Amino acid sequence: MNPRPAKPGDGVCWITGGSSGIGAALALRMAEAGWTVAITARDRDRLDDVAAKGRGRIHVFPADITGAYETELAVQAIEDRLGPIALAVLNAGIYVSINAENPSFEDYEKTFAVNLGGTAACLCALTPRMTGRGAGHIAIVSSATAFGGMPTASAYGASKAALVNMAECLRVELHRHGVFVQVVTPGFVETPAQDDNAFPKPFMVSPETAAERIEAGLGSKRFEITFPRRFTWALKALYALPYGWSLPLVRRQTCWNKPPES
Ligand SMILES: NC(=O)c1ccc[n+]([C@@H]2O[C@H](COP(=O)([O-])OP(=O)(O)OC[C@H]3O[C@@H](n4cnc5c(N)ncnc54)[C@H](OP(=O)(O)O)[C@@H]3O)[C@@H](O)[C@H]2O)c1
Repeated sequence: MNPRPAKPGDGVCWITGGSSGIGAALALRMAEAGWTVAITARDRDRLDDVAAKGRGRIHVFPADITGAYETELAVQAIEDRLGPIALAVLNAGIYVSINAENPSFEDYEKTFAVNLGGTAACLCALTPRMTGRGAGHIAIVSSATAFGGMPTASAYGASKAALVNMAECLRVELHRHGVFVQVVTPGFVETPAQDDNAFPKPFMVSPETAAERIEAGLGSKRFEITFPRRFTWALKALYALPYGWSLPLVRRQTCWNKPPES
């Protein structure tokens, strides 16, 4: 078994978080590339709006991925109606800003439930089907925030770093079962998820550009799909420095070296 990137003729492309931002743009792009696409999110109306632009190639399967049973039912419904899922882009995720001086447990819990628990629920529903077929392709959407700690991102960044680790484990383990695993680590993308993020957002790209980069990466054998590289590689280089250099630099670049506003 030699895992490889999936092609439209292999089966369905399932995209979670397909009702908005990166997921919606990617669904449209994959449909244009000839894929039959299944999209999942909680809000049916927003899913329908995306499907309406998909020339009959995008199909809607609403689910809250924080529920393992609900996610299993969605995967089953996709395969019953459309056929085997050949490519899954596990993209659904939320950003909740954490105030480190007075953190809310609920905010941590919510972030981990969607970003980590939700991805795990998708994997549990999907992986046995793919390993049973001896073929499949899974791309987990993490973030460049995974490379190192950033202010306000102690929940989001931790969840996204965990996803990189999860993808690394699966890339190694699922190889002998014919399942190809990738991780996506975007920099800033202009989507509703950025509305709550008060940071400067250097080199921010549109969801359409993000979708273009992800589609290109999905066709490659690389483990990591990262963009825009001038930003994500600089961030990797920053976090490769000794902590004594990198963390003060992060504090300065993000203006967290100034006294808190009273
Ligand atoms: N935007 C960025 O700068 C950026 C950068 C790096 C990585 N990312 C990652 O890229 C992914 C997509 O982000 P985006 O910016 O496109 O965000 P977005 O526009 O807010 O879209 C998030 C999607 O996830 C769905 N979702 C949220 N909670 C869900 C749940 N419990 N069950 C099922 N679906 C759920 C949302 O639909 P419903 O609310 O209807 O469920 C929506 O379709 C996320 O994983 C994000 O962390 C984004």
